[in-house]
Amino acid sequence: MAVPIVRTVVALRQVVAGWRAEGLAVGLVPTMGALHEGHLSLVRAGLARTDRVIVTLFVNPKQFNNSADLAAYPRTEDSDAAKLAPAGAHLLYAPNAEEIYPEGFSTTVSVAGGSEAMEGRFRPGHFEGVATVVAKLFLQSGADFAFFGEKDFQQLQVVRRMARDLDIPIEVVACPTIRERDGLAMSSRNVHLSPPERALAPRLAATLSETAEKLAAGAEAEPLLVEASRSLGRAGFSKVEYIELRSAASLTPLTKASEPARLLAAVWLGQVRLIDNVAVATSD
Ligand code: PAJ
Repeated sequence: MAVPIVRTVVALRQVVAGWRAEGLAVGLVPTMGALHEGHLSLVRAGLARTDRVIVTLFVNPKQFNNSADLAAYPRTEDSDAAKLAPAGAHLLYAPNAEEIYPEGFSTTVSVAGGSEAMEGRFRPGHFEGVATVVAKLFLQSGADFAFFGEKDFQQLQVVRRMARDLDIPIEVVACPTIRERDGLAMSSRNVHLSPPERALAPRLAATLSETAEKLAAGAEAEPLLVEASRSLGRAGFSKVEYIELRSAASLTPLTKASEPARLLAAVWLGQVRLIDNVAVATSD
């Protein structure tokens, strides 16, 4: 059986109103498609917590600061839809760009603080695009819960802050990063890696885990981060944009793992930008 698809806010709200009338709890899984096991794990988390799960598919032009990246982003709606029924999702909301950003659209949601460093620094405007579209998806669906991956750890914090600040009555649930067998975090962008790049890619997760272990043992961050960055460069990564130790709760920078922390990085492998992050246990 195929998953039902709606493409308009009106149709989405009609379906949700029917569920509400039955007293059902509604979960939302926002995605940009090219679905992989990471996305499907969010659907499963949604099914464990709610009665009905909506997956959204919208390649959001406002969050791409690079038009080549937007043009190259994989668009595979038919195969995405085919994966959703077996995963147990109840509805696919796949609006077009005019539905989300009609003529005259003028509002931007900007979350200060958490948006400026790391991804925000290297992708100016990215989190405004994310916060704007996610605020719309939350309000359009009226869902009770939304499921986000820790793979995009900074995005998770930005979205949480946005929902809290705007009093959107939705609970944002964090779900663990799903990885390939060799440790590479699953990502829709991995399809762009050449075979030699794909072979090298797991070094990122490995380097993060090794560094996280040393940080958890109480080491100072600075020299370890410099060494991690150099070793990725030596291994063949074309560029390390950042590798940083931050508080897991507030994302403020840390010099040691003195509180529950996160080690986050963005690197380039040829033409492909990869991000990843791991938890760092507290050293105290
Ligand atoms: P996208 O990259 O498609 O990711 C959709 C959701 O899947 C996000 O919550 C992301 O963190 C999660 N995800 C991606 N890879 C994952 C993995 N390996 N393990 C677990 N979860 C994973 O993130 C976006 O789209 C967009 O910014 C969006 C929130 C949809 C707004 O446009």
